[in-house]
Amino acid sequence: MCTRYTRFGGPQMRPDVPEQRKLVLVMVGLPARGKTYTARKLARYLNWRGHSTRVFNVGNYRRRDVGAQKPASFFDPRNVEGLEARRRVAMRALDELLSWLDEGGLVAIYDATNSTRSRRDLVRGRVEAAGHRVVFIESVCNDAAVVEDNIRSTKLRSPDYAGVEADKAVADFRERIAFYERAYEPVDDAELSWVKIVDLGRQVVVNRIQGYLPARLVYFLMNLHTGERRIWLTRHGQSMDNVAGKLGGDSSISPLGQQYAARLAEFMRERAGDEKVPVWTSTLQRTIQTAAGLHLPSVAWRALDEIDAGICEGLTYAEFDGRFPDDFASRKADKLRFRYPRGESYQDVVRRVEPVLIEIERQRRPLLVVAHQAVLRALYGYFLDKDPVAVPHLEVPLHMVIELTPHAYGATERRFELGPRVGSEPSWNAAASS
Ligand code: F6P
Repeated sequence: MCTRYTRFGGPQMRPDVPEQRKLVLVMVGLPARGKTYTARKLARYLNWRGHSTRVFNVGNYRRRDVGAQKPASFFDPRNVEGLEARRRVAMRALDELLSWLDEGGLVAIYDATNSTRSRRDLVRGRVEAAGHRVVFIESVCNDAAVVEDNIRSTKLRSPDYAGVEADKAVADFRERIAFYERAYEPVDDAELSWVKIVDLGRQVVVNRIQGYLPARLVYFLMNLHTGERRIWLTRHGQSMDNVAGKLGGDSSISPLGQQYAARLAEFMRERAGDEKVPVWTSTLQRTIQTAAGLHLPSVAWRALDEIDAGICEGLTYAEFDGRFPDDFASRKADKLRFRYPRGESYQDVVRRVEPVLIEIERQRRPLLVVAHQAVLRALYGYFLDKDPVAVPHLEVPLHMVIELTPHAYGATERRFELGPRVGSEPSWNAAASS
């Protein structure tokens, strides 16, 4: 019996983080500066890391409480009624944000223009009075073409302009921006914590960023871009351990696995043509062998190695259950946090692949990742914004390529079943439900 070794991963915050105060990220910026894009991206990243995060978008509160289709004049700082209505919805959103933190949330993102010093002081005062920390994230963009592109790609689809002709909507939105510009005061207070992102990350300025999580956020923000490219994710071709139904190990690919490697090479020629797509593999033989026939530049990452099953490496699921029934039951109860004795949990895998994930975010060119079931579940879970609890159960079959195209608010996905069919692979779900 080996339960004494079994530990579940820590609570939502990392146990090595001394700072346990909750965090409120207050977005700042003129309309159409990518605040909502950044807010949602941060939320996805933080939730993926296991920090329960939610975005409170004041625009949505305004649409709900005072109606969507407001003319630009509603946003004129001289419009006393408009000003009061906007202040009211902003405070309602903040009330709900604070209640959500009270109920157990860890990081709240307050997504609004927060474009004046007085508004920011008001928000900060209330957040700090509730005992939480504030970090301002200001998005500055002086490139008119980027702003125009943002208006056309996101604002025209907003309920604010439903049924309004495109050029009229753009003109109205420009007018709205001009009203905000009149009152805009950039974030520059040396005493406060803030991050300023200029022109989509061309420049990132940070001030008084302290603590584990804020520092990770800055690193993440520094690597973001909005360019479109494809990312292909695939497991290695079937391995000899897959054939035997054994966990982990470092076996070679089987004859069926070799056939898959050949089909993958064909697939990449079809999808990427002559482009020299970089290939990232793990350091395990089965991924390197699968990528060998691609004749593309490849890098082997240790961080992409399969989940370490510790004392269960080399066992089948039935042997795992037979030898270590308590551990088997613990994994069944909580697959995300169950840590194999002397091995890893899915939470460990998420943290281990994080540097690779940030590198993927940074890449502007297409990329092929040839890795393993658990590791790919972790990466896929990030791009498709999956609930962390669902991540260990995601479907990532052998001999299939998942093509992801990340975009502003998530990623689109296509799956290509290349074959050959491997019959039914021994799976945790089947083993745990029998
Ligand atoms: O069975 C193949 C495999 O990659 C094993 O090496 C690994 O332990 C397992 O899948 C991960 O899947 P699950 O977490 O569902 O057991």
